[in-house]
Amino acid sequence: MRATYLRCEYLVDPLGIDEARPRLSWLLESTEPGRRDEVQTAYHVIVGSEPHTNDVWDSGRVASDRTNQIEYEGPPLRSGQTCWWAVQVWDGEDRPSTWSPPASWEMGLLDPADWVGTWIAPPAPLRQAVATDIVLPGWSAPPAVHLRRRFTLPAGARRARVYATARGVYELHVNDQRVSDDVFAPGWTDYRKRIPYLTYDVTDMLAAGDNTITVHLADGWWCGKLAWLDRQQYGTHTSALLQLHVELDDGTTVTVATDDQWEATVGPILWSDFLVGEAYDARRRIDAATAWLAVEPVDPPDGAALVGIRSPTVRRTEELAARTVAEPTPGAFVFDLGQNMVGRVRLKAQGEAGAVVRIRHAEMCNPDGTIYTQNLRGATSTDFYVLAGDPDGEVYEPAFTFHGFRYVELTGYPGRPDLDAVTGIVLGSDLEMTGTFECSDELVNQLQRNIVWGQRGNFLEAPTDCPQRDERLGWLGDAQVFVATASWNMDVAPFFTKWMQDVVDGQHESGLFPDVAPLIPGDVATGAPAWADAGVIVPWNIARWFGDRRIVERHYDALARFVDGVHEANPDHLWRNTAHDYGDWLAIDAPTPKDVVATAYHAESTRLMACIATALGRDADAERWHRRWDAIKGAFNHAYVTPSGRIVGHTQTSYVLALAFDLVLEEHRDAAVRYLVEDITSRADHLSTGFLGVGHLLPVLADHGHLDVAYRLLLQDTFPSWGYSIKHGATTIWERWDGWTDTTGFQTWHMNSFNHYSLGSVGAWLYRDVAGIGLDPASPGYRHALIRPRPGGGLTHASGSYRSMHGTYASAWRVEGDTFHLDVTIPPGASASVHVPTSDPGALTEGGRPVTSVDTDGPAAVVTVGSGSYQFAAPARSFG
Ligand code: BGC
Repeated sequence: MRATYLRCEYLVDPLGIDEARPRLSWLLESTEPGRRDEVQTAYHVIVGSEPHTNDVWDSGRVASDRTNQIEYEGPPLRSGQTCWWAVQVWDGEDRPSTWSPPASWEMGLLDPADWVGTWIAPPAPLRQAVATDIVLPGWSAPPAVHLRRRFTLPAGARRARVYATARGVYELHVNDQRVSDDVFAPGWTDYRKRIPYLTYDVTDMLAAGDNTITVHLADGWWCGKLAWLDRQQYGTHTSALLQLHVELDDGTTVTVATDDQWEATVGPILWSDFLVGEAYDARRRIDAATAWLAVEPVDPPDGAALVGIRSPTVRRTEELAARTVAEPTPGAFVFDLGQNMVGRVRLKAQGEAGAVVRIRHAEMCNPDGTIYTQNLRGATSTDFYVLAGDPDGEVYEPAFTFHGFRYVELTGYPGRPDLDAVTGIVLGSDLEMTGTFECSDELVNQLQRNIVWGQRGNFLEAPTDCPQRDERLGWLGDAQVFVATASWNMDVAPFFTKWMQDVVDGQHESGLFPDVAPLIPGDVATGAPAWADAGVIVPWNIARWFGDRRIVERHYDALARFVDGVHEANPDHLWRNTAHDYGDWLAIDAPTPKDVVATAYHAESTRLMACIATALGRDADAERWHRRWDAIKGAFNHAYVTPSGRIVGHTQTSYVLALAFDLVLEEHRDAAVRYLVEDITSRADHLSTGFLGVGHLLPVLADHGHLDVAYRLLLQDTFPSWGYSIKHGATTIWERWDGWTDTTGFQTWHMNSFNHYSLGSVGAWLYRDVAGIGLDPASPGYRHALIRPRPGGGLTHASGSYRSMHGTYASAWRVEGDTFHLDVTIPPGASASVHVPTSDPGALTEGGRPVTSVDTDGPAAVVTVGSGSYQFAAPARSFG
């Protein structure tokens, strides 16, 4: 056994860490194929200034099975310090492993005084719109600019780092080479409170002699259009702050920072805006004749801290070839990429200088094959490319915009475009994919793909609601309903760690969390029930999933202020005093009274506070939260539940939330479940839940004896259902059940996104119950898992895997003849309770041999196993 995949703060060899005590993690890998029950009994971490040294910190041998979230405990680290580290582990027989290959992390700039440069902006003349023939009615914005500094370096640069940030979004170039593949750096935070910076290793890009460092700078979130609001929400114009530190072989250092020596010019990008699009005139090359103006120094941000980035940046994650091209109207060529995606296109064209190609984007087409753009609302989503006239052809990909689309329309294209004139470039926060799911039903497989694509597109710096229309906001409600599904699909721990800071930064003085984070100064809606509650639900989920105690510890006071704030405004425990309230958003013909939903969420957040306090060892607090929860539960039952167990609203969502949040009294449980199932049956096996009910619906049914009903909803393909959208070509999750129907066509264009992940919160159930890879609530970080597939719905096989903080679990079941087979893999250092559904638990075999110590859990055989691969088989029972 040995340690692999060493990470610091969830990242591999990160630069620019500004945590005082970074957390280290590794995975255990078996070196003896076929060996089982491998455990780690001790570890030894060394941290040094060079690989394989321990001059910074030596943990010594620590008797522990912990493999992750291990805090660095050495002396305080200084700005820019490189830490090399490695780990050795001991197994159950006390055999030491070899040392892991060295990994590293590097500290960022920890002290504001480390920043020696001044913020610089393009001078006023470059902040005016550029004259162009391209007309976009109602739109005028300044161009993207280039800021540069030329400097000379002596020979012998042995280490060079750039620390860079911007108010705006930037691309960094050293000697005309892109420094990294980050897109939209430095990302999006609540800029009023925090501005992120990135750290780059540019050692190999510098030369002895002349060098140039260039920043391409555009509006981005800082001063481009945001949501339905105007431009300039955070600030009026762009600016940048950067410094380059070069260490020379002779021990001296050279620093080049933003200052009045920098110069600015306008390049080919006439404008670039997330919502409007980008216009690029390729004739406007920057060359020796280009005039450069002196930059303007600007004030540093008032009250905002510079923080190292903590989550993977947005990157290009895939390219999609166009599947078809059609010409529904003369000269308008419509490409189908076959997938609703987020990003932009790479265009290939060849023609006369000055020819203007217009690129429009859409998620859907009209019946006549033209693109349907109404639902983009105010997002023009149009890019323009003006050809330079290169006889060898030219290639263009926008730099500072993105769109949500499946179809691309080109007009003004010189000649007839080939299929490869357009390639889809997929963008998103580049999070590691950690989950896989597959089963015998192709509809369900497509559902899983749609969920993942929704996440890929909408997890772009913040968990946004939609990527296409003039919105794209980090709505808290959407995030909390989806966080569990998201956590299976991808390594979202760093992403939500970053976002949670945005949530807390947006907290209102009343304690309420905002409805969206990062907060936008011009739009401060705050405190909607179930939206604000994400402030508790999301970090608790991350804490359990990733064994991350810090996220709840750090924000504990903020969380408590929120829950107490709701309580103070609603001392009778019913959450009725709300600023505004979305309720069970987009339920279908089944509105649940808003105060029922709100009170259920208030109870749940309070219950989770008790869990968090317990996990942090704050026992007195836990007791206090628990008492409060009890009181809210009592008030809920008193106000909303009749003696026969009927819950006010009498909707699927009212029963589902009450059951999921443990608000139903024992004596009413059967009735609540019966009402829920009756409602589904009365709708001919259809759901009616909106955003808030939907994620809990199938788990609640499965947990209360109605697995068959859960499967019927999962496999339903008539309206309303997931299957209905899939049958009609959906490749992402739609915002609304009725986004398009064959009787009414498109829903109102005012709010009809075809790429919204919220209703995809069913994904968690696919992992938990269909593949059967469940989190054991008693074992944060997946140290011990519950492998408990619940077959049904006529599926003949299903499988899934999940790369947890403890390594990869896999579960694959199939029914063959009369036998149920379950293949399971448990990673070294971990264990699982495996539930094999069977008509005869006593007949369970593993690897063909009878299993002796078997417990039963209803009609399932239960065995506890350590690491390794197992092949279980047992007589199949009828799975419905
Ligand atoms: C968004 C939702 C969001 C909601 C709040 C919508 O416009 O698209 O996803 O949660 O507003 O009700």
